[in-house]
Amino acid sequence: MKKMTLAIATAALMSAPAFAGDVEAGKAKSAMCAACHGAEGVSAIPMYPNLAGQKQAYLAKQLKDFRSGARKDPVMAPMAMGLSDADIDNLSAFYASLKP
Ligand code: HEC
Repeated sequence: MKKMTLAIATAALMSAPAFAGDVEAGKAKSAMCAACHGAEGVSAIPMYPNLAGQKQAYLAKQLKDFRSGARKDPVMAPMAMGLSDADIDNLSAFYASLKP
């Protein structure tokens, strides 16, 4: 499992160096996201999107857009507000590493 995570992180690093993130740190940070998006990035609730297996660059862009207000959502905006760039890279790496 650890090896697998590393391989995925390495692959993500090679394909998108601008979005280098730490999967383990992202997993730790994702506790606050799990209530809506599921512990494994697959939501049990229809109104919340799945994040597992989504592209890392896409996830990072959405979170930055929620944070800046470029993408508006009353639920996600306050979630993204408290995230640093490093948090966003780590969370994006974590969700991108999961199987949808
Ligand atoms: C209270 C519920 C809730 C929590 C907690 C929450 N989200 Fe969301 N999230 C949503 C909803 C609802 C949407 C869909 C917003 C829309 O329709 O634009 C969303 C959308 C997203 C998207 C965009 C998905 C896409 O396909 O475009 C990302 C990325 C995301 N959330 C990440 C996170 C992360 C990371 C956290 C934790 C820091 C988090 N969310 C916490 C409810 C939540």
